[in-house]
Amino acid sequence: MTRTESISLSATSDHGNPVEDAAVIASAIIARESAPDGVVPLSVEQAIATLPIAIPERGVGEAEAIERLRRVVMATPTTSGERFFNQLFAGRERVATIAEVLTAVLNQSMYTWKVAGPQALIEREVLERMLARAGMAGGDAMFTPGGSMSNLAAMLVGRNEMRPDSRELGFDGRGQTIYASSECHYSIRKNAAMIGAGRESVRPVGVDAEGRMDPEALAAAIAGDRRAGLKPLMIIATSGTTVMGAFDPIDAIADVARREGLWLHVDGAYGGTALMHHEHRSLLRGLERADSFTWDAHKMMGAPLTCSVALTREPDLFRRHFDETASYLFQQDFGADHGWLNPGTRSLQCGRRNDALKLWAQWQALGDDGYAERVDRQVALARRAVEIVRDDDRMSLAFEPSWVNVCFEVVGKSTEMICDELNTQGRLKVGHGVVFGRRVIRLVTIDPTLTMSQLEHAFEELLDVARGAAPSDNIVR
Ligand SMILES: Cc1ncc(COP(=O)(O)O)c(C=O)c1O
Repeated sequence: MTRTESISLSATSDHGNPVEDAAVIASAIIARESAPDGVVPLSVEQAIATLPIAIPERGVGEAEAIERLRRVVMATPTTSGERFFNQLFAGRERVATIAEVLTAVLNQSMYTWKVAGPQALIEREVLERMLARAGMAGGDAMFTPGGSMSNLAAMLVGRNEMRPDSRELGFDGRGQTIYASSECHYSIRKNAAMIGAGRESVRPVGVDAEGRMDPEALAAAIAGDRRAGLKPLMIIATSGTTVMGAFDPIDAIADVARREGLWLHVDGAYGGTALMHHEHRSLLRGLERADSFTWDAHKMMGAPLTCSVALTREPDLFRRHFDETASYLFQQDFGADHGWLNPGTRSLQCGRRNDALKLWAQWQALGDDGYAERVDRQVALARRAVEIVRDDDRMSLAFEPSWVNVCFEVVGKSTEMICDELNTQGRLKVGHGVVFGRRVIRLVTIDPTLTMSQLEHAFEELLDVARGAAPSDNIVR
């Protein structure tokens, strides 16, 4: 039994303070992240056989329930530490984590001033700062439960603005078309179904060698669809595609949107954080011309999940499209100018957790400058990773990244097998995806606290495991 496993419940408080009890377990989770040999994950069969997953009919009491909780969380993969390169979120910001714990203790619902009090001001402050960064000052903004949902909110507003009767009378989605790059996030197709346009309405637009949407191909696709009697509805540009980290050329796409009279949404769930950096913000040049924008702070800004915002350039759009009267709830009339103080009037949700406090707290600690430095560090780690791949002829780079996605192959070795083995041996979590028909390792440098030598060690682990991997040309057939 390891030291962390042996932490017993006798160390937890006996006076009913849940935060103290949680702190004991949290310390064990954090200690486990730096285990020198990694942490071997349980297989599904092992998890079912060894963990107390089933809920008993007769309660086991608090102490035993907390013990079961401890066992399950200690067996759960962590997304922090030097062995995690798998997701577009990673690492832990101290102040944000403290704020997140306090959010649970406060347990607000962010719909009214009466319940949320100054938290409504905190939320407004964060949203206004993000609007300003996006070049959309004075626009509308709200928190949602993630980037997919921010995209949904924006696509609903776009649909309603483009087809004004939709909110009241419904929407005949047949023949309506939506344009997004072939590299866009899968939520676009899913949301196309949810807004009533149907999944097949999404037209995949071709990309260049770096994965960026080709504006000429976009214009041609729209023209072709119009000739065929279809009704173009909206364009979705992506700032930071999921696999390649590509930034679509918003300015050129905005020209097409304006000429064609279409809604332009920019999915910056992943790459929106480039806006925090004086140079990298140019990757989103033209964003101020877009109609709506998604930005996840739980990805590169390091806020605990979930922390995502949807923004619009025009004021009041979310309120106009989502507000419902609820006389039992929205009781203090703050007037149009102060609708922000009853934020439930501009939300997809009713009961809503407070996602602003953690970001606000971390932003307090870092300031704008600190966030820019954070991005610097993330990009520097990616550049070092590119160098490592380039300098070693056992590996080949898939393309020159503009963001922090480093996609590569170990020459002649199965990408899938390498990633699976690294995971099952508890040595590294790193993902894979398909780039131009080849299965590649996608290593992302999201956690800015990693050191260069930790990154170098990750590559040593990877190459060590690759030696035993099956041969493969990694072509997806
Ligand atoms: C480009 C892009 N958009 C949207 C999303 C969805 O974000 P979320 O996971 O917060 O729903 C992702 C997630 O990786 C993404 O990469």
